[in-house]
Amino acid sequence: MEFKTKTGELAKQKTPCLVLGVFEKRKLTGLTKDVDAASGGRLTALLRKGDLEGELGQTLMLYGLPGLAAERVLLVGCGKRKEFNRGNHRKAIAAAIGVLQRLHASEACLAVADPPPAGMDLYAAVREVLVTAAQKVYRYSQTKEDKKAPKTPLKRLTLWVSDKAQLASAEQAIQHGAAIAAGIGLARELGNLPGNICTPSYLADQARALGERFERLEIQVLEEADMAELEMGALLSVSRGSRQPAKLIIMHYRGGDPDAKPIVLVGKGLTFDAGGISIKPAAEMDEMKFDMCGGASVLGALLATCEMGLPINLVGVVPASENLPDGAANKPGDIVTSMSGQTIEILNTDAEGRLILCDALTYCKRFDPALVVDMATLTGACVVALGRHPAGLFTPDDRLAEEILRAGEAAGDRAWRMPLWDDYQQQLDSNFADMANIGGRDAGAITAACFLRRFTKDYRWAHLDIAGVAWLGGKEKGSTGRPVALLSQLVLERSGALKSAG
Ligand code: BES
Ligand code: MN
Ligand code: ZN
Repeated sequence: MEFKTKTGELAKQKTPCLVLGVFEKRKLTGLTKDVDAASGGRLTALLRKGDLEGELGQTLMLYGLPGLAAERVLLVGCGKRKEFNRGNHRKAIAAAIGVLQRLHASEACLAVADPPPAGMDLYAAVREVLVTAAQKVYRYSQTKEDKKAPKTPLKRLTLWVSDKAQLASAEQAIQHGAAIAAGIGLARELGNLPGNICTPSYLADQARALGERFERLEIQVLEEADMAELEMGALLSVSRGSRQPAKLIIMHYRGGDPDAKPIVLVGKGLTFDAGGISIKPAAEMDEMKFDMCGGASVLGALLATCEMGLPINLVGVVPASENLPDGAANKPGDIVTSMSGQTIEILNTDAEGRLILCDALTYCKRFDPALVVDMATLTGACVVALGRHPAGLFTPDDRLAEEILRAGEAAGDRAWRMPLWDDYQQQLDSNFADMANIGGRDAGAITAACFLRRFTKDYRWAHLDIAGVAWLGGKEKGSTGRPVALLSQLVLERSGALKSAG
């Protein structure tokens, strides 16, 4: 989809469809009032008939309004004005886009965020419209005939800005929003692809394709032989049970000062997790194709960063492997030696994410990182603890925690901090190795993070457990593209590119 901004007189805007917001009880927003005046009060007269109260997500299409250059007007309910927050704004936009997709209109002009939702400025609101709209029109179609695809897909969306002085920040919001939406879209598509298509090699090819597109992006893929040379015994042990070779994908974006330390993003790229010899139950096992969503969000964040052309150095690292039962697979009780030299007793082969991540995290040292953030669909326990709304955030670094939580809030892609106290470390004690790969029933998400912590002592580090947020199950089954928005926000803020908007 294409986006642009416009300012001037809304009533004179030629468009197949003008989208306006209405608050409960039929309260017109600032912009809408002008349109009403231009139409000689027809809008208020029609609303008075009671067909639209302004309830959140309600829509009403109006034809033939006098005094307007728009062919039709779509009113969308924004709920109570006092409750107009990010969530309600999103729902209103999604409802409007839903209606637009059913019309024969490839274009529309949207002016709903007036005033912007609570806690958001115009930049944030415009960006949110873009990301929400792009998410709403996304359809998975690679392996399925899309029978419900709109006949006239929405191609262009014009965002109305009432205040000329804010045009520049709206334009920046559009540029950033489009880049972030592209990153989310890539992460979703990769997540949705089945395990027999989206293999570790496929992920590596996708990364290479990104490298072709952007001059500042360099891709390097380590093969199993390279990993053996680096003595990545933990990562390789997981891959041994699979016929697909593991890949360690490294994506180097150089947009900053050559001497500036990079941010490093590490994502779990487990393209299918059957559990290995500690095999998972059959129910919903298909959803373990989403176990590479951390890795996909690294590709997504890199794409967003490339498209924004941010002045920063960013490295993406994706350990990619399958986890399957096989004669060569890890067995419970096996002991492997990680790249760090620490030995690990594998008490449960289904706790494989931490095994591939720990070697990737050790590898990160060579980048002399400013900070390392890893994201992984790591534990079912995190879903039990936090549900499906926030990602779990784990870090010993209070300042970094605050920075990441704030980025999540700003991007509408929230995380919630969990403890990472040393008190939990003893749960990983083993009689036969430096540590076990599981810590018992209690605090499963925390002990997983405690495990990773043992490999990240040399740099600032945070871990996001995205098991609850990376995909939706049930009827809406599909990847969400989270936490690409959070990561993009973090990188944007670190790059300093936001302040220049003013
Ligand atoms: N990929 C799973 C985590 C997962 C499970 C995410 C279900 C979302 C939904 C991970 O590899 C795993 O299997 N973790 C185990 C760890 C356990 C064996 C300590 C889990 O959570 O059950
Ligand atoms: Mn597992
Ligand atoms: Zn897994």
